[in-house]
Amino acid sequence: MRHLIDILELTTGEIEELINVAEDIIGNPKSYSEKCRGKKLATLFFEPSTRTRLSFEAAMYELGGNVLGFSEAKNSSAAKGECISDTARTVSCYADIIAMRHPVEGAPYVASLKSDIPIINAGDGGHNHPTQTLTDLLTIHREKGTFENLTIGLCGDLKYGRTVHSLILAMSRYKNVKFVLISPDELTIPSYVKDVLESKNIEHKYIKDLEDAMGELDVLYMTRVQRERFKTEEEYERLKNCYILTVDKLKNAKDDLSIMHPLPRVNEISHEIDDDKRACYFKQMLYGKYIRMALILKLLEAKENGEVIKEKDVKTVKNVYKCKNRRCITNNEEGIENIFKLVDEKTDLYRCIYCEARAKKDQ
Ligand code: NCD
Repeated sequence: MRHLIDILELTTGEIEELINVAEDIIGNPKSYSEKCRGKKLATLFFEPSTRTRLSFEAAMYELGGNVLGFSEAKNSSAAKGECISDTARTVSCYADIIAMRHPVEGAPYVASLKSDIPIINAGDGGHNHPTQTLTDLLTIHREKGTFENLTIGLCGDLKYGRTVHSLILAMSRYKNVKFVLISPDELTIPSYVKDVLESKNIEHKYIKDLEDAMGELDVLYMTRVQRERFKTEEEYERLKNCYILTVDKLKNAKDDLSIMHPLPRVNEISHEIDDDKRACYFKQMLYGKYIRMALILKLLEAKENGEVIKEKDVKTVKNVYKCKNRRCITNNEEGIENIFKLVDEKTDLYRCIYCEARAKKDQ
């Protein structure tokens, strides 16, 4: 069964195909309006959402299909203590494809292990958000015409911002892409993303002052400080206003800079920028619907054709390490075995298969 849990499950060729389909949908929406007649998408949202859930639902309606689901955990049997894989198995009986958002990292992956229908990760905790990345890629492609030779600044909460993680992983596969990581020390990228940049020798730098990098950026990806993921409210209060993009801060920016944001924004982009021709975030959210239409079509077709993704040949160990990430599924649901994968033989580095936290020697 083909799911979409991590953006790297799609090859760059498949991403190109999805973009082409999305472009065709934009040009000829009518020719897609019956493609999913009789099919059902279940949106299982255990965490708040506006754009992701509604764009998935609009996508399915525009393909001629139907939608069922819930938008709050309290409206599902999770509130009675049902585990995620039982919920997924249940919904497999009633729908053809699932889009799932969950605050616990690795939850959509665990659901996919027991599901008879494709599962799309619509955001798992502070970990990954592959369909936002597809949206971002379609936006970059439309704005820049290429994924190569770009300098991308990512600014704000790079630690908990799941869209940042998936976007860096996706863009790390294109030629001559440079990253400028703009955040306070406390909110820098997690180690599994850093490993990818380092192991692939991708040019990147860490800076604190947004204006220091402004002049070199082709894309500026602003993010919200992810209040709901902080250990304490004090820590959030201390960091919440770390970056606010104003017109003044754009004075050295390129004329063709693309300003992106997965939204929702709190205060990190001042409203006066909305009318600047470089602001792309409202287009970006519209594109989310088209690329999700393309993805739904692809996964339903893959299911019909009995396509599977070949499991990568990685060494795993069971119950040797215990995941230390408090947001990992292994620490939030009973009965999930601690499984770690070997990611670097030279340094003997293992990572949790659910949330990619590093296995610590003392575990
Ligand atoms: C993002 C998310 O949920 O991670 N929103 C979205 O899906 N468009 C970003 C955020 O919540 O800050």
